[in-house]
Amino acid sequence: MAKIRKAVFPVAGLGTRFLPATKASPKEMLPVVDKPLIQYAAEEAEAGGADQLVFVTGRHKRSIEDHFDKAKELELELEAAGKTKLLNIVRTVLPASVSCIYLRQPEALGLGHAVLCAKPVVGNEAFAIILADDLIRNDAKGVVEQMAEVHERTGASVLSVEEVPPNETDKYGIVETEEQSDGTLRVTSIVEKPAPEDAPSNLAVVGRYLLTPRIFDMLEQTKPGAGGEIQLTDAIAALLKEETVIAHRFEGKRYDCGSKEGYLEATVEYALAHPDLGESFRAYLKDLVL
Ligand code: UTP
Repeated sequence: MAKIRKAVFPVAGLGTRFLPATKASPKEMLPVVDKPLIQYAAEEAEAGGADQLVFVTGRHKRSIEDHFDKAKELELELEAAGKTKLLNIVRTVLPASVSCIYLRQPEALGLGHAVLCAKPVVGNEAFAIILADDLIRNDAKGVVEQMAEVHERTGASVLSVEEVPPNETDKYGIVETEEQSDGTLRVTSIVEKPAPEDAPSNLAVVGRYLLTPRIFDMLEQTKPGAGGEIQLTDAIAALLKEETVIAHRFEGKRYDCGSKEGYLEATVEYALAHPDLGESFRAYLKDLVL
Protein backbone atom coordinates (compact mmCIF):
# COMPACT_ATOMS: atom_id res chain seq x y z
CA MET A 1 0.00 0.00 0.00
CA ALA A 2 1.25 3.50 -0.88
CA LYS A 3 2.91 5.71 1.70
CA ILE A 4 1.26 8.99 2.59
CA ARG A 5 2.85 12.12 1.14
CA LYS A 6 0.46 14.87 2.09
CA ALA A 7 -0.46 16.28 5.47
CA VAL A 8 -3.20 18.84 6.01
CA PHE A 9 -3.06 21.29 8.91
CA PRO A 10 -6.37 23.01 9.59
CA VAL A 11 -5.29 26.25 11.28
CA ALA A 12 -8.29 28.46 10.58
CA GLY A 13 -10.10 28.06 13.91
CA LEU A 14 -10.84 31.13 16.01
CA GLY A 15 -8.96 29.87 19.05
CA THR A 16 -11.35 31.65 21.40
CA ARG A 17 -10.16 29.75 24.48
CA PHE A 18 -6.81 31.52 24.20
CA LEU A 19 -7.95 35.09 23.74
CA PRO A 20 -6.39 37.62 23.85
CA ALA A 21 -3.24 35.69 22.82
CA THR A 22 -5.03 34.55 19.65
CA LYS A 23 -6.46 37.94 18.74
CA ALA A 24 -3.89 38.66 16.06
CA SER A 25 -2.09 35.34 15.69
CA PRO A 26 -3.30 31.73 15.36
CA LYS A 27 -3.12 29.46 18.40
CA GLU A 28 -0.88 27.13 16.40
CA MET A 29 1.87 29.77 16.67
CA LEU A 30 1.90 29.58 20.48
CA PRO A 31 5.37 28.38 21.47
CA VAL A 32 6.07 25.44 23.74
CA VAL A 33 9.50 26.41 25.12
CA ASP A 34 11.14 27.51 21.86
CA LYS A 35 9.06 26.11 18.99
CA PRO A 36 5.54 27.00 17.90
CA LEU A 37 2.96 24.20 18.04
CA ILE A 38 2.74 24.17 14.26
CA GLN A 39 6.43 23.33 13.96
CA TYR A 40 6.12 20.29 16.23
CA ALA A 41 3.22 19.20 14.01
CA ALA A 42 5.15 19.78 10.77
CA GLU A 43 8.11 17.80 12.11
CA GLU A 44 5.83 14.92 13.08
CA ALA A 45 4.26 14.88 9.60
CA GLU A 46 7.66 14.92 7.94
CA ALA A 47 8.87 12.05 10.13
CA GLY A 48 5.75 10.15 9.06
CA GLY A 49 6.67 10.47 5.38
CA ALA A 50 4.84 13.64 4.30
CA ASP A 51 6.72 15.94 1.98
CA GLN A 52 3.82 18.23 1.08
CA LEU A 53 2.36 20.21 3.95
CA VAL A 54 -0.99 21.83 3.25
CA PHE A 55 -2.01 24.60 5.64
CA VAL A 56 -5.65 25.64 5.64
CA THR A 57 -5.42 29.09 7.14
CA GLY A 58 -7.87 31.76 8.24
CA ARG A 59 -7.43 35.42 8.84
CA HIS A 60 -3.96 35.08 10.41
CA LYS A 61 -2.21 33.50 7.50
CA ARG A 62 0.96 35.57 7.57
CA SER A 63 2.73 34.38 10.70
CA ILE A 64 2.54 30.68 9.77
CA GLU A 65 3.70 31.35 6.22
CA ASP A 66 6.54 33.51 7.47
CA HIS A 67 7.57 30.88 9.99
CA PHE A 68 8.17 28.25 7.31
CA ASP A 69 9.60 30.72 4.80
CA LYS A 70 13.25 31.60 4.38
CA ALA A 71 14.21 34.49 6.67
CA LYS A 72 16.99 36.02 4.60
CA GLU A 73 17.66 39.18 6.64
CA LEU A 74 17.72 37.27 9.91
CA GLU A 75 20.07 34.67 8.42
CA LEU A 76 22.45 37.37 7.18
CA GLU A 77 22.52 39.01 10.59
CA LEU A 78 23.15 35.75 12.44
CA GLU A 79 25.85 34.86 9.94
CA ALA A 80 27.56 38.25 10.32
CA ALA A 81 27.45 37.86 14.11
CA GLY A 82 28.98 34.38 13.84
CA LYS A 83 25.96 32.80 15.60
CA THR A 84 26.17 29.54 13.68
CA LYS A 85 24.11 27.42 16.09
CA LEU A 86 21.17 29.83 15.85
CA LEU A 87 21.66 30.16 12.10
CA ASN A 88 21.33 26.42 11.78
CA ILE A 89 18.15 26.40 13.88
CA VAL A 90 16.60 29.07 11.66
CA ARG A 91 17.67 27.33 8.45
CA THR A 92 16.42 23.90 9.39
CA VAL A 93 12.89 24.72 10.51
CA LEU A 94 11.91 22.33 7.71
CA PRO A 95 14.05 20.09 5.51
CA ALA A 96 14.53 21.42 1.96
CA SER A 97 12.72 18.38 0.53
CA VAL A 98 9.43 19.49 2.10
CA SER A 99 7.12 21.92 0.33
CA CYS A 100 4.40 24.05 1.92
CA ILE A 101 1.10 24.98 0.33
CA TYR A 102 -1.23 27.57 1.83
CA LEU A 103 -4.97 27.67 1.28
CA ARG A 104 -7.62 29.92 2.75
CA GLN A 105 -10.75 28.79 4.50
CA PRO A 106 -12.87 31.86 3.77
CA GLU A 107 -15.05 31.42 6.87
CA ALA A 108 -14.62 29.28 9.99
CA LEU A 109 -17.43 26.87 9.08
CA GLY A 110 -15.96 23.93 10.95
CA LEU A 111 -13.13 21.42 10.85
CA GLY A 112 -14.85 19.34 8.15
CA HIS A 113 -15.18 22.39 5.96
CA ALA A 114 -11.52 23.28 6.51
CA VAL A 115 -10.47 19.77 5.40
CA LEU A 116 -12.71 20.00 2.33
CA CYS A 117 -10.88 23.21 1.34
CA ALA A 118 -7.77 21.03 0.85
CA LYS A 119 -9.42 18.75 -1.72
CA PRO A 120 -7.99 20.44 -4.85
CA VAL A 121 -4.46 20.00 -3.49
CA VAL A 122 -4.78 16.54 -1.95
CA GLY A 123 -6.51 14.99 -4.94
CA ASN A 124 -6.96 11.26 -5.07
CA GLU A 125 -4.62 9.94 -2.40
CA ALA A 126 -4.74 9.10 1.30
CA PHE A 127 -3.53 11.95 3.50
CA ALA A 128 -2.91 12.85 7.13
CA ILE A 129 -4.70 15.57 9.08
CA ILE A 130 -2.95 17.05 12.08
CA LEU A 131 -4.52 19.37 14.64
CA ALA A 132 -1.43 21.07 15.96
CA ASP A 133 -3.02 22.07 19.25
CA ASP A 134 -3.00 18.38 20.22
CA LEU A 135 0.71 18.11 20.89
CA ILE A 136 1.74 14.45 21.20
CA ARG A 137 5.14 13.54 22.48
CA ASN A 138 6.87 10.39 21.32
CA ASP A 139 10.56 10.91 20.69
CA ALA A 140 11.04 7.47 19.12
CA LYS A 141 8.12 7.34 16.69
CA GLY A 142 5.61 10.12 16.09
CA VAL A 143 1.90 9.38 15.84
CA VAL A 144 1.68 10.15 12.10
CA GLU A 145 4.39 7.57 11.47
CA GLN A 146 2.56 5.04 13.66
CA MET A 147 -0.67 5.63 11.73
CA ALA A 148 1.09 5.53 8.34
CA GLU A 149 2.36 2.06 9.25
CA VAL A 150 -1.19 0.89 10.01
CA HIS A 151 -2.39 2.39 6.73
CA GLU A 152 0.43 0.80 4.74
CA ARG A 153 -0.46 -2.57 6.21
CA THR A 154 -4.23 -2.32 5.77
CA GLY A 155 -5.03 0.38 3.19
CA ALA A 156 -7.67 1.64 5.62
CA SER A 157 -8.36 5.05 7.10
CA VAL A 158 -6.92 5.39 10.60
CA LEU A 159 -8.01 7.55 13.56
CA SER A 160 -5.77 8.05 16.57
CA VAL A 161 -7.63 7.39 19.80
CA GLU A 162 -7.11 7.34 23.54
CA GLU A 163 -9.23 6.64 26.57
CA VAL A 164 -10.53 9.77 28.27
CA PRO A 165 -12.29 10.12 31.65
CA PRO A 166 -15.94 9.08 31.07
CA ASN A 167 -17.20 12.49 32.20
CA GLU A 168 -15.22 14.20 29.40
CA THR A 169 -16.78 12.49 26.37
CA ASP A 170 -18.59 15.72 25.49
CA LYS A 171 -15.28 17.29 24.48
CA TYR A 172 -14.39 14.73 21.79
CA GLY A 173 -15.48 12.58 18.89
CA ILE A 174 -16.15 9.20 20.52
CA VAL A 175 -15.87 5.84 18.74
CA GLU A 176 -17.35 2.42 19.21
CA THR A 177 -15.02 -0.32 18.02
CA GLU A 178 -14.84 -4.03 17.29
CA GLU A 179 -11.61 -6.00 17.54
CA GLN A 180 -10.62 -7.78 14.31
CA SER A 181 -8.81 -11.11 14.01
CA ASP A 182 -5.56 -9.26 13.16
CA GLY A 183 -5.81 -7.32 16.44
CA THR A 184 -6.84 -4.00 14.87
CA LEU A 185 -9.86 -2.10 16.21
CA ARG A 186 -12.43 -1.43 13.51
CA VAL A 187 -14.59 1.61 14.12
CA THR A 188 -18.28 0.68 14.01
CA SER A 189 -19.69 4.08 14.97
CA ILE A 190 -18.51 7.58 15.77
CA VAL A 191 -20.35 10.44 17.40
CA GLU A 192 -19.31 14.05 18.04
CA LYS A 193 -19.19 15.26 21.64
CA PRO A 194 -21.79 12.93 23.20
CA ALA A 195 -22.98 13.53 26.77
CA PRO A 196 -21.42 10.90 29.09
CA GLU A 197 -24.75 9.03 29.38
CA ASP A 198 -25.05 8.78 25.57
CA ALA A 199 -21.42 7.95 24.76
CA PRO A 200 -20.84 4.52 23.21
CA SER A 201 -17.43 4.28 24.96
CA ASN A 202 -14.75 6.54 26.40
CA LEU A 203 -12.42 6.05 23.41
CA ALA A 204 -11.85 9.54 22.03
CA VAL A 205 -10.46 10.62 18.69
CA VAL A 206 -7.60 13.07 19.16
CA GLY A 207 -6.06 15.40 16.60
CA ARG A 208 -4.55 12.94 14.12
CA TYR A 209 -6.42 11.36 11.21
CA LEU A 210 -5.25 9.44 8.17
CA LEU A 211 -8.04 9.29 5.63
CA THR A 212 -8.67 7.98 2.16
CA PRO A 213 -9.76 10.60 -0.41
CA ARG A 214 -13.30 9.19 -0.28
CA ILE A 215 -13.74 11.46 2.75
CA PHE A 216 -14.06 14.44 0.39
CA ASP A 217 -17.21 12.97 -1.20
CA MET A 218 -18.61 12.47 2.28
CA LEU A 219 -17.72 16.02 3.33
CA GLU A 220 -19.42 17.43 0.25
CA GLN A 221 -22.63 15.78 1.41
CA THR A 222 -22.25 16.67 5.08
CA LYS A 223 -24.74 19.20 6.45
CA PRO A 224 -23.85 21.47 9.37
CA GLY A 225 -24.02 19.45 12.60
CA ALA A 226 -23.07 20.15 16.23
CA GLY A 227 -22.54 23.91 16.77
CA GLY A 228 -23.74 24.68 13.22
CA GLU A 229 -20.33 23.58 11.88
CA ILE A 230 -19.52 21.07 9.16
CA GLN A 231 -18.11 18.29 11.33
CA LEU A 232 -15.34 15.97 10.17
CA THR A 233 -16.82 13.41 12.57
CA ASP A 234 -20.10 13.31 10.62
CA ALA A 235 -18.24 12.67 7.35
CA ILE A 236 -16.22 9.90 9.02
CA ALA A 237 -19.51 8.37 10.22
CA ALA A 238 -20.59 8.19 6.55
CA LEU A 239 -17.17 6.90 5.44
CA LEU A 240 -17.16 3.96 7.82
CA LYS A 241 -20.39 2.67 6.29
CA GLU A 242 -18.45 2.14 3.04
CA GLU A 243 -14.84 1.54 4.02
CA THR A 244 -12.87 0.15 6.92
CA VAL A 245 -11.82 2.78 9.44
CA ILE A 246 -9.36 1.68 12.11
CA ALA A 247 -8.92 3.17 15.58
CA HIS A 248 -5.24 3.28 16.53
CA ARG A 249 -4.38 3.58 20.24
CA PHE A 250 -1.35 5.75 19.77
CA GLU A 251 1.82 5.53 21.79
CA GLY A 252 2.84 8.85 23.26
CA LYS A 253 1.69 11.51 25.68
CA ARG A 254 -0.87 14.03 24.51
CA TYR A 255 -1.17 17.61 25.71
CA ASP A 256 -4.35 19.50 24.84
CA CYS A 257 -2.67 22.78 24.00
CA GLY A 258 -6.00 24.25 22.91
CA SER A 259 -6.74 24.57 26.64
CA LYS A 260 -4.70 26.72 28.99
CA GLU A 261 -4.10 23.89 31.44
CA GLY A 262 -2.86 21.45 28.78
CA TYR A 263 -0.66 24.13 27.29
CA LEU A 264 0.94 24.89 30.64
CA GLU A 265 1.54 21.17 31.32
CA ALA A 266 3.23 20.83 27.93
CA THR A 267 5.38 23.88 28.61
CA VAL A 268 6.57 22.53 31.97
CA GLU A 269 7.24 19.00 30.71
CA TYR A 270 8.99 20.07 27.51
CA ALA A 271 11.10 22.50 29.53
CA LEU A 272 12.09 19.70 31.94
CA ALA A 273 13.09 17.52 28.97
CA HIS A 274 14.95 20.29 27.17
CA PRO A 275 18.67 19.52 26.75
CA ASP A 276 19.85 23.04 27.66
CA LEU A 277 17.19 24.07 30.16
CA GLY A 278 16.04 20.87 31.82
CA GLU A 279 18.38 20.69 34.76
CA SER A 280 18.19 24.29 35.87
CA PHE A 281 14.44 24.44 35.31
CA ARG A 282 13.96 21.35 37.50
CA ALA A 283 15.95 22.99 40.28
CA TYR A 284 13.91 26.17 39.89
CA LEU A 285 10.60 24.27 40.07
CA LYS A 286 11.69 22.32 43.15
CA ASP A 287 12.67 25.53 44.84
CA LEU A 288 9.39 27.14 43.92
CA VAL A 289 7.00 24.45 45.05
CA LEU A 290 8.73 22.64 47.91
P1 UTP B 1 -11.36 23.78 17.80
O1 UTP B 1 -12.59 23.04 18.06
O2 UTP B 1 -10.22 23.61 18.73
O3 UTP B 1 -11.75 25.31 17.66
O4 UTP B 1 -10.89 23.41 16.32
P2 UTP B 1 -10.85 26.59 17.64
O5 UTP B 1 -11.63 27.68 16.99
O6 UTP B 1 -9.51 26.35 17.02
O7 UTP B 1 -10.58 26.93 19.18
P3 UTP B 1 -11.55 27.43 20.35
O8 UTP B 1 -12.36 26.23 20.75
O9 UTP B 1 -12.36 28.56 19.83
O10 UTP B 1 -10.60 27.88 21.42
C1 UTP B 1 -10.26 22.19 16.04
C2 UTP B 1 -9.28 22.37 14.90
O11 UTP B 1 -9.97 22.70 13.70
C3 UTP B 1 -9.48 23.90 13.14
C4 UTP B 1 -8.81 24.64 14.29
O12 UTP B 1 -7.80 25.49 13.82
C5 UTP B 1 -8.28 23.50 15.14
O13 UTP B 1 -7.04 23.02 14.64
N1 UTP B 1 -10.62 24.60 12.54
C6 UTP B 1 -11.81 24.67 13.21
C7 UTP B 1 -10.52 25.17 11.28
O14 UTP B 1 -9.44 25.12 10.64
N2 UTP B 1 -11.60 25.78 10.73
C8 UTP B 1 -12.79 25.85 11.38
O15 UTP B 1 -13.75 26.41 10.81
C9 UTP B 1 -12.89 25.29 12.66
